[in-house]
Amino acid sequence: MQQSLPVSVRRLQVDDIDQVVAIEKEAFSPLWVSTSFKRDLNNKRAKYLVACFDDGVSPEEILAEIESDQMAEEVDQRPPNIWSRVLGRIGLSSRSETAHKDVAFDIAGYVSVWYQGDEAHITEIAVKESLRGRGIGELLLIGSLKAAIEYGSKVMTLEARVSNFIAHRMYQKYDFKSVGIRKAYYSDNREDAVIMTTCPINTDEYHQLFADLQSTYQTRWGRMCIEY
Ligand SMILES: CC(C)(COP(=O)(O)OP(=O)(O)OC[C@H]1O[C@@H](n2cnc3c(N)ncnc32)[C@H](O)[C@@H]1OP(=O)(O)O)[C@@H](O)C(=O)NCCC(=O)NCCS
Repeated sequence: MQQSLPVSVRRLQVDDIDQVVAIEKEAFSPLWVSTSFKRDLNNKRAKYLVACFDDGVSPEEILAEIESDQMAEEVDQRPPNIWSRVLGRIGLSSRSETAHKDVAFDIAGYVSVWYQGDEAHITEIAVKESLRGRGIGELLLIGSLKAAIEYGSKVMTLEARVSNFIAHRMYQKYDFKSVGIRKAYYSDNREDAVIMTTCPINTDEYHQLFADLQSTYQTRWGRMCIEY
């Protein structure tokens, strides 16, 4: 089981933008048109949230630990006759640990949501690649759903690449359903997008489901700090 990370969700601040753009570039295609985070920072119809490491922790050390755990797993799975390559990787790893120490970061991921009429539309959600699979994407989704419910949105919608099964699975967990296809929606490879939407999120039924999912999240990850 993965360990939880000391990460909280809060509003995007101007100083976060460079890190968020770096995560955006890493997560999406190089041809992706970058979001105008700075311009929309104070737009009431947009909600940008980030998953941020807590003050006092060293994300660089956490990342280095994760990488060394991943490498130990790889070593366990390799046959013994490739030790020279493994040693090479260890050399590479210590260089990358030094690199992490040089590049300060505290943002692990972000989500951007636009409110359009009754809909809250997730335009982007992404987690730094090396930190995926540790509950951060789900925490950002919970934060955006909470904010949308409070804003008074009736449904939450988004588009996802048809091939993006990891994202589909995350959304399905929160009761998003596929309701249509946008043909050749993505300009880089003309891939279709699946349109996903929740049932009404302003009902007692959804609030109950959402409360149960949050409680399961907390049981699994031990914490859930969200402020928006
Ligand atoms: C989609 C994304 C945001 C998920 O973030 P994450 O922090 O890795 O996800 P979490 O660890 O919080 O996992 C949440 C759920 O996602 C799904 N999921 C995550 N990793 C998965 C994997 N490797 N395989 C299958 N499902 C996976 C699961 O449903 C998981 O819930 P579970 O652990 O109870 O099964 C992340 O993969 C990402 O940044 N991808 C690149 C950008 C992107 O595709 N964004 C979506 C655009 S629509």
